[in-house]
Amino acid sequence: MSQSTDIFFMRRIQNGRQKGKRIIQATAETLTKAAKQLMTEPAIMHTSAVTHENGKQDTHQRKRIPLALPIIDAEMKTAALSALDEKLVMGESVFKFEEEFARYCGTKHAVSTGSGTAALSITLQALGISHGSEVLTTPFSFIATAYAVLHAGADPVFADVQDAGANLSPSKAREKIGPKTRAIVPVHLYGHPARMDELVGIARERGIRLVEDACQAHGAESFGKKVGSIGDAGCFSFYPAKNMTVGGDGGMITTNNEEVTEAAMSIRDCGRNRNSKYHMGRIGYTSRLNSVNAAIGRVQLKRLDDWNAARWRLASVYRRELENVEGIELPPTERSGEKGVYHLFVIRTNMREKVKQRLEQKGIETGVHYPVPIHLQTPYRQAYGYTEGAFPLSESLSNQVLSLPMYPTLSEDDVVRICGALKDSLKP
Ligand SMILES: Cc1ncc(COP(=O)(O)O)c(C=O)c1O
Repeated sequence: MSQSTDIFFMRRIQNGRQKGKRIIQATAETLTKAAKQLMTEPAIMHTSAVTHENGKQDTHQRKRIPLALPIIDAEMKTAALSALDEKLVMGESVFKFEEEFARYCGTKHAVSTGSGTAALSITLQALGISHGSEVLTTPFSFIATAYAVLHAGADPVFADVQDAGANLSPSKAREKIGPKTRAIVPVHLYGHPARMDELVGIARERGIRLVEDACQAHGAESFGKKVGSIGDAGCFSFYPAKNMTVGGDGGMITTNNEEVTEAAMSIRDCGRNRNSKYHMGRIGYTSRLNSVNAAIGRVQLKRLDDWNAARWRLASVYRRELENVEGIELPPTERSGEKGVYHLFVIRTNMREKVKQRLEQKGIETGVHYPVPIHLQTPYRQAYGYTEGAFPLSESLSNQVLSLPMYPTLSEDDVVRICGALKDSLKP
């Protein structure tokens, strides 16, 4: 190729790059507008009709309040677009995100995965847990906590939750430890830290592993440590409704353990040996994080503390407005030394269906996390023969829990409106 042809192609490449940048800028501007709209006007209008005693009807148009609202802002969109210029899977953004997430949690390492479920299952496998082993966990969680145990080839063994709250009871867990128990998986449900001080003691005393399911608790703390940095490993989900997302599915394992890190990096990547393309030392999966998702995650992580602080403020408004309201029970407050992150604000009521329906009529979305405890879900009934009554506290929670709207851009006025509607809905 002559020098002039070289220059010709170089110019074309440069022009192309500049054009590409202009397109990215224009797209980012359009997306900024869309994001602003999403954040200032998040809800679709909801029409409700009120019939007065004199028979007259008023119709009100009010904004619908969703249960959760993920935030994808302009900086995240710009970051996602530029990550398209990287290696699309496991590009530079992925490694930077892992480094930053580990630093945030206070662990030496973080290994990203395709989901929170994969993070849990890969961690158990990286710890050498497989057929013939038992893993102790709570029946009151998202079903994936126990799926991960089955995916690793082990058997889940359940212990009921604490008398107050919705997390695994350390004393009940202790009673269930047997000769095959290899690990305990407590869940920081709703963003509320599990009783890590006691669980760490039990795991040490019995010589078993402790894996934190922190899928709902990014940024929560227990006795000066971030969750995910207390046990042998922590597992996070970035599913869009969580306290932070990657703009799609994704997960992360946090650990100080070099062997777990090495094994997890291999298992999530088809079992590959480090720095090798087609030499596999283990049986693995394709469960890697895409660069675009990691780029979004890096920006989300910068916002996480502010978002969690907003959740805290909203939780205190809920508590103020709902204190001493008959017919409902508020979520437990943290013990000193613990800091939750209110992934969900969950009340308990025996009038759940009525309350849910009445709030829905007023344009307020609520949720139930979870209506069926894990042991009563079909796969566990079938495989282990569980029936009603096995874990009474979890079963009664599943009949009473009701999640109220909670997301950082929810306004305090909206919380007051939700609480007013909730109090009305409790009336006969
Ligand atoms: C407590 C808990 N564990 C595990 C998971 C699984 O995470 P993912 O949906 O990313 O697989 C979730 C997510 O919903 C969860 O809430």
